Amino acid sequence: MVVASSFEEAVSLIKDRLDIVDTISQYVVLKKSGANYWGICPFHDDKHPSMSVSPSKGIYKCFSCGAGGDALNFLVKIQNKDYKEVILELAEKFGIEFPKKYTPSNENKTQKELMLKACKKAAQFYNMQLKSSKDSNKAMTYLKGREITDEIISTYMLGWAPNKYDALYNELKKEFKDEILEKAGLILKSNKCSWIDRFRNRIIVPIQNETGEFVAFGARAVDEGQNPKYLNSSDSLIYNKSKILFGLYTAKDAIKENDSVIIMEGYFDVITAQSHGVKNAVASCGTALTSDHVKLLSRYTKSRKIYLSFDTDSAGINATKRGSEIIKETLASVGEIKQFDESHISAASDGKYSCEIRVVSPPQGKDPDEYIRSMGGDAFNEHVKSAPLLIDFLLNNVLKEKNTAKTPQEKSELVAQVIDILKDVNNKVIQTEYVKTVSSVLEVNENAILKELKRSENAHFGNHIPQIQKNSVTNSSQFEIKAQKNLLSVFISNGGYENYANLSALLPENIIHDETLIIVKNTIDKLIGTVNNVRELTNNLYTEFIEDDNITRIITDIVDMSESFNGLDADELKQSVRENIQRLNRCYTEHEAEELRQKYRQVNSDDMEALKVQMQLRDEIKLRTGDK
Ligand code: CTP
Ligand code: MN
Repeated sequence: MVVASSFEEAVSLIKDRLDIVDTISQYVVLKKSGANYWGICPFHDDKHPSMSVSPSKGIYKCFSCGAGGDALNFLVKIQNKDYKEVILELAEKFGIEFPKKYTPSNENKTQKELMLKACKKAAQFYNMQLKSSKDSNKAMTYLKGREITDEIISTYMLGWAPNKYDALYNELKKEFKDEILEKAGLILKSNKCSWIDRFRNRIIVPIQNETGEFVAFGARAVDEGQNPKYLNSSDSLIYNKSKILFGLYTAKDAIKENDSVIIMEGYFDVITAQSHGVKNAVASCGTALTSDHVKLLSRYTKSRKIYLSFDTDSAGINATKRGSEIIKETLASVGEIKQFDESHISAASDGKYSCEIRVVSPPQGKDPDEYIRSMGGDAFNEHVKSAPLLIDFLLNNVLKEKNTAKTPQEKSELVAQVIDILKDVNNKVIQTEYVKTVSSVLEVNENAILKELKRSENAHFGNHIPQIQKNSVTNSSQFEIKAQKNLLSVFISNGGYENYANLSALLPENIIHDETLIIVKNTIDKLIGTVNNVRELTNNLYTEFIEDDNITRIITDIVDMSESFNGLDADELKQSVRENIQRLNRCYTEHEAEELRQKYRQVNSDDMEALKVQMQLRDEIKLRTGDK
């Protein structure tokens, strides 16, 4: 057993023991080619080996989707776990003892186990009550009314919390301490300092985690006027509602098999769906869809085909919009969302997209539960098969208002909504196709829509154009970022590390403009005095940003670029730094000049103003060229 004195030291000891090739080989078949290894990237769909693994640098990098990092980052990403959890597991595996405060104490561990046990006992107790207690009749009647069979009751362990203050408590207090029952969310302190059951006079829907353990409960009211309609367990040591999906345990095989998942709104939607052959359905538990939910689902569906089947009322449509935004944001790094249905033109194009979001909305405004009960699971599955892409659903939702929009103002309001949807379509050909359709449906001139679209895109773009302020922190263009990364990469090459101080002295102030890259550079400056070699430097750099996937990628790019500076001597490195500075200055000058030119074009109606800008432009360029 090695004992680490700090969290950082423990992480560094773990990293010393993690071989990048061994680590990744557990998940990806790697083939050696030259100094590096290549394999199929597990973070996006690909048939080609786009991911390189560099044993000398200790990094992996996918040239297709941009994923990248060190071995630890790979494990965190592929296991889709919290990095602390991964570190703790690795520490155990490598026999590294952690500083006390980072280890979940034994007490904590056993507490979790006891809570899980208590929840399981509670689920069994409620289930028994439903089957045999005297006051469960109304619950049974209610469930039978929703066509919930005995078989379904057993499969989902549905239960009944009797209308008594201490039914569950009396049963469980024999085996568990009050503290455990309270932490598990099963009992509450009543004002008389005694304990009462949290769930009373309700139908119990137990919530299972991915591995089938009972971790929480949703409890539905049965009486008229009983509020709230659902009472849900709060988050606890064993339950985090933003990371758990109801029904996933019973749906996961079907999700894998279909390579798709259907997200519904309610517990009973999922129960009815799964029991009627719509087996890949899940729901969030009394909360909106979160990024963690999406990550969880990405582990089961390779092509990330996600169907949203929420209610068809306006609340449901809003949930669809919000949910799809979360999905897009979460998967943005993987690539583009599918925005055009070419299924009728060519074969399915699986693998090209970060995700495919479709909306299943059964007719007559029914929710999935009602629809499936009246029309059957097969009928619902047919709707799934023909479900429109999110973009088509959203457009249709606007276009169906066409008959109510008579005046030019009303029409232009609809066009504005359409534009809001279309401005996110990156592919111009596809975008234009949509504009054609919209133009004919709304009977609005196609060019007018295109013009409005362009205007809205420009306005959008305008917000992101950096201000012309020299020496200020800005977000740079892709090209500038590349040049800045290249400059930084000199410093973490082998020779760059040896000559860090001398090379740093060459850097003009504010030569790094990009916010994130400034952070990276400052962190390197901070770490440089604390490490013994360049590998340690990059290792610690990764550790600093262990929770930030974006910065981890950026570091990986820089580490990757640094390779080309290895083997250069001090003078050659100085020369590289100078060249990079020059190139960057040229970029900045061009960027600023372009902005000034744009400004010039915009103000040409006013001669005086135009002249001023033109002069400013000349000065600016002169000044910048003089700089070099
Ligand atoms: N929900 C909740 N608390 C509420 C209401 C709803 O947590 N007070 C959650 C539950 O997870 C519920 C889901 O939101 O399953 C959908 O709620 P809603 O549409 O109101 O209910 P239905 O699904 O129609 O519920 P039921 O079918 O039981 O009538
Ligand atoms: Mn419902």
